[in-house]
Amino acid sequence: MFAAQTIDMSDKAAFHRELATQLKALLDGERDPIANAANTAALIFQMMPDLNWAGFYFMQSDDELVLGPFQGKPACVRIAVGRGVCGTAIDLGTSMVIKDVHDFPGHIACDPDSRSELVVLLMDGDDAAFGVIDLDSPVPGRFDKVDQAGIEALASIYVAACDWEE
Ligand code: SME
Repeated sequence: MFAAQTIDMSDKAAFHRELATQLKALLDGERDPIANAANTAALIFQMMPDLNWAGFYFMQSDDELVLGPFQGKPACVRIAVGRGVCGTAIDLGTSMVIKDVHDFPGHIACDPDSRSELVVLLMDGDDAAFGVIDLDSPVPGRFDKVDQAGIEALASIYVAACDWEE
């Protein structure tokens, strides 16, 4: 049985390296995208302090994200490309670090407690993103570039760990 190990948070880059090591161990031997997304969300939510939501949205058509496995309060199911932080990340083809969601005009408030947000893309090679990992925090300014790089690394580990239908 996998047991997540507490990680020292004093060195944030080291924290993310250790989180990546634990995710590889957690996903080892399993190739199912839904199961691995569920466990990835659970690990992130358990290990990263000050989160109120961690989960996945997947592109189910050319213009819409649909909710995937997550931890936290029930969330909005469908997000159009170009809408909210998640849909904007897909539209622009880039990760998004939002220090204060109140300053992001299109923010979709699934949980009124959310104050900052990090969205990273799920990429398969050079093709367009096929989903996102979305993290919310009740703490303004919770996420920075080190968190962005750390969660982007987790996204790559997740994508590589799964079998994807063509
Ligand atoms: N706030 C997101 C919507 C998803 S929830 O945070 C889970 C957004 O604006 O895209």
